Amino acid sequence: MTALLEVQDLRVTFGGTAAVRGASLAVAKGETHCLVGESGCGKSVTSLAIMGLLARGGRREASALRFAGLEIGGLNEREMSRLRGDRMAMIFQEPMTSLNPAYTVGSQMTEVLRRHRGATRAQAVDRAAELLGRVGITAPGLRLGQFPHQLSGGLRQRVMIAMALMCDPELLIADEPTTALDVTVQAQILRLLAGLQRDLGLGILLITHDLGVVARIADRVSVMYAGEVVESAPTAELFGNPRHPYTRGLLACVPVPGKVKRGDPLGSIPGVVPRIPPGFRGCAFRDRCEYAHAECSGPIPRQQAGPGHEVLCTLALAA
Ligand SMILES: Nc1ncnc2c1ncn2[C@@H]1O[C@H](COP(=O)(O)OP(=O)(O)O)[C@@H](O)[C@H]1O
Ligand SMILES: [Mg+2]
Repeated sequence: MTALLEVQDLRVTFGGTAAVRGASLAVAKGETHCLVGESGCGKSVTSLAIMGLLARGGRREASALRFAGLEIGGLNEREMSRLRGDRMAMIFQEPMTSLNPAYTVGSQMTEVLRRHRGATRAQAVDRAAELLGRVGITAPGLRLGQFPHQLSGGLRQRVMIAMALMCDPELLIADEPTTALDVTVQAQILRLLAGLQRDLGLGILLITHDLGVVARIADRVSVMYAGEVVESAPTAELFGNPRHPYTRGLLACVPVPGKVKRGDPLGSIPGVVPRIPPGFRGCAFRDRCEYAHAECSGPIPRQQAGPGHEVLCTLALAA
């Protein structure tokens, strides 16, 4: 299976601070890959780096950054903006990040298709109305004429998803798309994403704090800690046989997929995610880890714990 998205050894720094320190991950066509980890672990920076949307001052390096077999690490901003919104799209926690308050929903949605695909106005309006319907918005004609501030948070989120889908992207990156919404709307949006993925064969990289969501919709899960992917495995394997002490901490309250309820948060582990100084060696989790020993200050091996299951730890904790 060739990966739709392939990220190898991604590093992102802001000045002297390393936000991502050698992260690798892949998303296959039609697959949902969830990225989890506490706040500040580098999940958003990873997704922004992939999309070429890092804030000013952010520097990105990677040994490979491939989308649909195409190396995109060396593309310039003009070439990237041709891909973004077209073959790869991103939705954010806060819809106003991608919606412009000064334009109607209709003009923003149609602009995407006209710019990338040279569609006529009428074609673009049809497509926008169809997608609003698809994301569960009734009276699309009315909504197309409204401004973002006239919509509720849930509607804005749906509009942003519909807008991301205008050009039929192959990859959708969603960064905590439901965190700001109430639980009922969250559930609707997630069902929607799962349905779209099934119908359109989208590859999705989903950042979420909600283990219930992960258990229900992820094919694969990667766990980030302090800028590194410390464990990655197919979903059932990760929940059933977590090997990294950090993953175990996150799953502490909810070890079994069937028993995870919607809205169950990641477990909380005493301590905080450390800032990693330049030249740091060893495991970044060692100060919070009950299994830490002398070897954790040296080079950390990436171990194979099963098929498609990798763990970055000196111990391969048994199940
Ligand atoms: N624009 C920025 N400038 C400097 N540091 C940043 C910037 N954006 C993120 N960081 C830092 O990068 C690290 C990872 O942040 P982020 O990816 O937002 O975490 P997460 O999404 O996992 O909560 C944090 O230490 C954060 O302070
Ligand atoms: Mg984030």
